[in-house]
Amino acid sequence: MDDVGAAIELRHPLDPLSADEVVEVASIVRGQHDLGPGMRFETIALAEPSLREDLPPAGSADRRAFVSVYDTQSGVLYEAVVSIARREILSWKARPDAKPRIAAEEFLLAESAVRADPRFIAALKRRGITDPSRVRVDPWSAGVFGHPEEVGRRIIHGFAFLRDNPFDNQYAHPIEGLNAIVDINRNEVLHVHDVGAIPVPVAARNYAARFQTSWRTDLKPIEVVQPQGPSFTVRGNEVSWCGWRLRIGFTPREGLVLHDIMIRDNGRWRPVIRRASLAEMVVPYGSPIEAHARKNAFDCGEYGIGMLTNSLSLGCDCLGTIHYFDAVSNSIDGSARVIPNAICLHEEDAGILWKHYDFRTNETDTRRARRLVISFIATVGNYEYGFYWYLFLDGTIQLEVKLTGIIYTAGISSDAARAYGTEVSPGVLGQIHQHLFNVRLDMAVDGTRNTVTEVDTLIEPPGPANPWNNAFRAVETPLTTEKAARRNASTESLRYWKITNPGSRNAVGQPVAYRLLPHSAIKPVTSEGSQPARRAGFAHHHLWVTPTRDDERWPAGDYVNQSEDGEGLPRWTEADRPVADTQVTVWHTFGHHHIPRTEDFPVQTVMSCGFILQPFGFFDQNPTLDVPPSSKDGSCCV
Ligand code: NI
Repeated sequence: MDDVGAAIELRHPLDPLSADEVVEVASIVRGQHDLGPGMRFETIALAEPSLREDLPPAGSADRRAFVSVYDTQSGVLYEAVVSIARREILSWKARPDAKPRIAAEEFLLAESAVRADPRFIAALKRRGITDPSRVRVDPWSAGVFGHPEEVGRRIIHGFAFLRDNPFDNQYAHPIEGLNAIVDINRNEVLHVHDVGAIPVPVAARNYAARFQTSWRTDLKPIEVVQPQGPSFTVRGNEVSWCGWRLRIGFTPREGLVLHDIMIRDNGRWRPVIRRASLAEMVVPYGSPIEAHARKNAFDCGEYGIGMLTNSLSLGCDCLGTIHYFDAVSNSIDGSARVIPNAICLHEEDAGILWKHYDFRTNETDTRRARRLVISFIATVGNYEYGFYWYLFLDGTIQLEVKLTGIIYTAGISSDAARAYGTEVSPGVLGQIHQHLFNVRLDMAVDGTRNTVTEVDTLIEPPGPANPWNNAFRAVETPLTTEKAARRNASTESLRYWKITNPGSRNAVGQPVAYRLLPHSAIKPVTSEGSQPARRAGFAHHHLWVTPTRDDERWPAGDYVNQSEDGEGLPRWTEADRPVADTQVTVWHTFGHHHIPRTEDFPVQTVMSCGFILQPFGFFDQNPTLDVPPSSKDGSCCV
């Protein structure tokens, strides 16, 4: 066996497909089902082993790929499962109503088609723009609005902007009132909407270093020094760090995936989560004016947040001693696309871990906290999403989503339009919108028999048992079926949820648990009948619990682009299956409510949202007493 063969043989069953495997899988599919010149690959990714079974040992199992491929001429999409070792297609199934995601390559195809369209060129001329090469057309997913010319087609919706030079920030120059609908399968402009020549704002609003003419001089260097190297070790895709162990995965749709998160407790490895990833997101906009009413983007399901991952660079995106993982996705022609340095792994100081000063002995104990950071950043057109998973020494797991990039802008066509945003530059409106994320957490708290409970803090009424009216207490309610587990956060009752294992007890006899703290559980401001209300049902609840199923991956449905109503979580949970004392998947919706500020323009500093998973009775005591004092001579801590 050659070295490459040996390396493939020893690959772990959860390792993402390599570039060679992507190419191999595409060739197997093309060899047996050549769809002709209109053949495009949506997804070529690892078909992961079942979450409901133990993992096969490395190298022992047949690696399989999931493929979603479509024919732009017939419009039909097929799903295949491919055995890589046997070079065999194990299943082949048409999904006739499914519309594949919009691929990055298709963004540029759509833009070229619009810029070459005589109706679009004429509309530009009406605005005094004679050079279409200065115009950029952003392709948006188009949703489902029932216009007769769109029915049955795979379409995108284009918004136009002007660049004064190739590096100019186009979002300072929205070409308001000019939009195009493109059939992306046929590369045909169906319609050009022009509501009239609204003046294009001319002021340059640039942020790039090439435009900056002076720099502040009061910033002294901060260096991160790790003289003995980092505390983590990486073996293939397995990461070990300070009592944590997990595997790194990646898919074109979700980006980073964390597998088999375990924590060490007195020499015993205890599972916490089987699989964690961002599963969906939607960005609804609030303006009803003209074409803006169509704006709602599912950046995960409609574009593929993994596909849009960018390469990270040391000293800019991440500081310290870094380990990078490359990521592999597929192009629409079935070739492999390697994204170098897609995932950053590093550790950070995280302030104090705990402290106490004993005023009787004059003795102080302080320990420093640190966290392991596993992150990637995706660029979705104008905007950046950074996804930062943190593991802490005390067993806490956190996801922080960092939102940055350029807010989406529009021109101001009327006074009525002003109500739906903030004027961030003369004639430029930053439109009101939300970012709603949904994470899929396949839980395994000390094993796979878990029950989710809701914890509310109740203020007790006055009475004989509460003579001084001071009584309040936590009340815990098990969520035993799917419908009962459709829940929302409550600031009134300071609500959180616990994922407990009733079969595993701590030193005081309580079921061990992790609690989910929903600190970014915003109210979705989507009205009944709107696109997000119909197609992003996951956003209606902050918590959903389902029995873990391998085929229930996507909370807004398998194919979200121009999807049907009610797919995913709303439909699955109608079955109202039992979810107590079984293998459960927890889905959490959280987000950022974004009323733009002038300070968000021309580029927005990081805003953040996310959630925290924290051990709650999982350990018998603070698990960090053995963290040594960190100063060189220990003097700051004694
Ligand atoms: Ni925003």
